[in-house]
Amino acid sequence: MQKLSGSRIVMIFTVLLFLLFGFASLSPVVRLFYSEAKPYKFFGYEFRSTFDPIKIASVHEVELKTDQILTAKSFKVVLDLPYSGPEKVRQNIYGIIVNDNGEIKAYSTVCPHLNCSVKWEEEKVDDQKLWCNCHNGAFNPKTGNVTAGPPPKPLTRFVIETREDDVFLLDIGGA
Ligand code: FES
Repeated sequence: MQKLSGSRIVMIFTVLLFLLFGFASLSPVVRLFYSEAKPYKFFGYEFRSTFDPIKIASVHEVELKTDQILTAKSFKVVLDLPYSGPEKVRQNIYGIIVNDNGEIKAYSTVCPHLNCSVKWEEEKVDDQKLWCNCHNGAFNPKTGNVTAGPPPKPLTRFVIETREDDVFLLDIGGA
């Protein structure tokens, strides 16, 4: 039987390594396309949004005072989000629930411009109360749509469900 030379062994080893790295780097991409959950972009990373409903607030915390038609409250939840198939990544998810004349809505507070934090500014006009002071971006709390500044798209709307006094987060992939 013919003996393998040293350079041939190195070449075979290099090809095997190359194939191994190729498979390893492709498998998350393949799983991304074959998973059924919706992707969610968070600071440039893409997450799948499937998780058990999680309580984020109580309705009475955003109760409207007399003559008020809008109010809001920020929240944060820590989720182990499936990422790239079975792997999970722990993430802080920041959002805000809005009481829009009796209808409860929730948005991500990650500004779609450069990821600064969007806050509730009571003194702003109604359609600019969701405010990002990094570059004076504003969003309409009724829709999440951009009403001022450079943000290129609306705030991500979270899917929520209200059960009696509790507000549950169901999905962060947008409604
Ligand atoms: S990061 Fe929000 S307006 Fe620029």
